[in-house]
Amino acid sequence: MSEAAPQPKAQQTVTLIDNATGKKYDFPVMNGSVGPRVIDIRKLYAETGMFTYDPGFTSTAACESAVTYIDGDKGILLYRGYSIKELAEKSDFLEVCFLLLHGELPNGQQKSEFVNTITRHTMVHEQMQFFFRGFRRDSHPMAVMVGTVGALAAFYHDSLDIDDPKQREIAGHRLIAKIPTIAALTYKYSIGQPFIYPRNDLSFAENFLYMTFSVPSEPYKINPILARAMDRIFILHADHEQNASTSTVRLAGSSRANPFACIASGIASLWGPAHGGANEAVLAMLEEIGDKSRIPEFIKRAKDKNDTFRLMGFGHRVYKNYDPRAEIMRRTCHEVLAELGIKNDPLLDIAMELEKIALQDEYFIEKKLYPNVDFYSGIILKAIGFPTEMFTVLFAVARTVGWVAQWKEMIEEPTQKIGRPRQLYTGATERAYVALDKRK
Ligand code: SDX
Repeated sequence: MSEAAPQPKAQQTVTLIDNATGKKYDFPVMNGSVGPRVIDIRKLYAETGMFTYDPGFTSTAACESAVTYIDGDKGILLYRGYSIKELAEKSDFLEVCFLLLHGELPNGQQKSEFVNTITRHTMVHEQMQFFFRGFRRDSHPMAVMVGTVGALAAFYHDSLDIDDPKQREIAGHRLIAKIPTIAALTYKYSIGQPFIYPRNDLSFAENFLYMTFSVPSEPYKINPILARAMDRIFILHADHEQNASTSTVRLAGSSRANPFACIASGIASLWGPAHGGANEAVLAMLEEIGDKSRIPEFIKRAKDKNDTFRLMGFGHRVYKNYDPRAEIMRRTCHEVLAELGIKNDPLLDIAMELEKIALQDEYFIEKKLYPNVDFYSGIILKAIGFPTEMFTVLFAVARTVGWVAQWKEMIEEPTQKIGRPRQLYTGATERAYVALDKRK
């Protein structure tokens, strides 16, 4: 039965009326596959002579993307349409990497080829080890990561041409494969232990634990529960729409900077305690609270406008419901502590009591502040043996694939152009120079 050809949707528009001039302007409205519609204001300045004003981009879609979707009100996170809950339970990190990069889950052959490719890119150039000697042993590992990842561009001249799809692909594979190795080297350097080469017979997460915690003087036994937990933590952190560090990578990439430089800029942005640095800050906060009896004091401080203290690991620009990743992280936390025979972790006790009190507090309810991905991750990572300052490094190891996938999507966007926001200028208007002897 022939169905009438679907009629193209009438172009939806919104009308802007400038009350100062009475002029009316129509702007097209665009629909995504799901989520809020957008007003296409690309012609706004040309037609009205005005800019929009949205510091922090609370109401701005900076790009079109098909990689990750978040419904903040419902606490939903999808990677290429697959829910984070299903992926965390049924998939593995390298399969999720393939999904984020290529848009589909791999078949058997694609998966084994991809795993083989990444595995064989895990070694870094032997000369990279000399970089570490230039840093103090007590450097913050994120400072070392920014420097060494950016320096990859000095080694891999054969994958800097962003207009060559093959070079883009190799650069992406190198970043996903080598950043865990660099992270482990960074940790080993900080504790004065020998560097451990990657092993091709281990999975991504097993290899990372091996390079981080093994020593040449004795065999290292991989704990499968901990390896599975690490793999799941990597999945949970892999991508998250247009967050601050991903937007940084996109903006750096829009100038056509090479991928290694772009990912280094993402690492720099992730470092901030309002973003990826929060997992380190959560642990510092829990240690500062020190005892459940002090929780009310810190809740009070978090609510005090005159106090810069915020409850680290709480709140989110997009999630106004429970961060789905936090729930999975909390379950993983109990699994890891049980596996390690840690019956009662005082920090976990404080975290769970803090969560309970905060979620019943009017302030947090009204402002829709829930635990985010960073609230429990630090407890797990500390239990596994990572020092606090390595927590954000692990976030960067996982998020590299998201940054690469978003960077790739931007570069392959036919209408891609350099990102160059404007401003509302409130500084001095033009004035004449005053000679030194004439100034007050
Ligand atoms: C990540 O964007 C992403 O997707 C990031 C991320 C990812 O995967 O890439 O999810 C990873 O960065 C998670 C967030 C980690 N950061 C923290 O846990 C740090 C603590 N959280 C806050 O700094 C804050 O919640 C942000 C930065 C996460 C979000 O800040 P917003 O969206 O700019 O919200 P806001 O600062 O405007 O807060 C809204 C209100 C404010 O009160 P009012 O000015 O309206 O009176 O809520 C208050 C804030 O003061 N508030 C908090 C709070 N977070 C927000 N009050 C106390 N404690 C908090 N944690």
